[in-house]
Amino acid sequence: MNAPPSKVRLGQLNTPLQPLDRLSEYFGGPRIWIKRDDMTGCATSGNKVRKLEYLFADALAQGCDTIITSGGIQSNHCRATAVLGAQLGVHVHLLLRADEAPQSVGNLFISQLVGAKKSHYSPSEFKYLRQHIDHWMAHYREQNRAPYCIPVGGSNGLGLWGYIDAVSELAADFARLGMQPDAIVHATGSGGTQAGLILGCQIHEVLVPVVGFAVCDDANYFTTKILSDITDWKRQGGHHLTVRPEDIMTIDSYKGPSYGRCDPEVFELIRWLAHLEGIILDPVYTGKAFYGMLKEIQGGQFRDTANIVFIHTGGLFGLFAQQDRLEDAAEIYTKTHKNEVDLSWKI
Ligand SMILES: Cc1ncc(COP(=O)(O)O)c(C=O)c1O
Repeated sequence: MNAPPSKVRLGQLNTPLQPLDRLSEYFGGPRIWIKRDDMTGCATSGNKVRKLEYLFADALAQGCDTIITSGGIQSNHCRATAVLGAQLGVHVHLLLRADEAPQSVGNLFISQLVGAKKSHYSPSEFKYLRQHIDHWMAHYREQNRAPYCIPVGGSNGLGLWGYIDAVSELAADFARLGMQPDAIVHATGSGGTQAGLILGCQIHEVLVPVVGFAVCDDANYFTTKILSDITDWKRQGGHHLTVRPEDIMTIDSYKGPSYGRCDPEVFELIRWLAHLEGIILDPVYTGKAFYGMLKEIQGGQFRDTANIVFIHTGGLFGLFAQQDRLEDAAEIYTKTHKNEVDLSWKI
């Protein structure tokens, strides 16, 4: 295997792999395990820190002093970049897609607290993101600064190394536990986590299907995006591996109303799982994916599966930003179910 590029140690790694036995017993199906990438840090928690270890290392090696990155107003990626920038003494400028006057809560609050500069763009303006990035890159160069652009979600050929690393942790856990799961599942948004997991499974000989649950876009989008990130990775000296379109498995039927919004059933699941296992999901990514995984188990998709691993990619601050929606869903729930643990989202 080619040596991976350099990285800065930023995450609290390795993260634990834990069984969710009360949940598994309830379902009577496969044993469900959870890889706790919600524990990669405190203010930096979630999947992004793994990618940012490589991206910040590259920026610092090139002598850059300013990071420009972008995402939705409650982007976990932007928050993690802002916090890590503050930790490393690097200026961070976030280009954020905002529908209306955004409230300073959740991820946005943390990004502001650590001093990131922000520019807001309406959804129609955000379509021209490349132009906005070029504008700000030129702006910083004119000021004799050295800007570095990190793409949305930190997903490119360099960032995906983060999830190749995650598979090496999993491979060691599987060897220690003497088990090989039948599937690895996770939420997919900009495709970098999925691309890294797929490559990581090949590199570390974990012969397990990786299934991404889309939180936006559709399965074809992810196939194209992931193949393109893998091509980028190969161009940068990656391995001679073959990833075919059919190796990219994306389920796109649990996206809910839109990116960032979920159905009440997902809020119910978030609350139920928090009671049952003390695991906190979020409404934008992990809640949708976990809901999708349970529905697929119920529908027989993982019929011959003994063990399934869910990658908890974080997102806690995004839940704070939707606390009122969760409470509204909970109020309906309490009225209809007299405050017992409700399983009405189950088939
Ligand atoms: C909490 C969380 N889970 C999952 C994802 C999806 O990861 P990726 O963008 O690598 O597909 C993201 C990022 O967008 C995220 O913030």
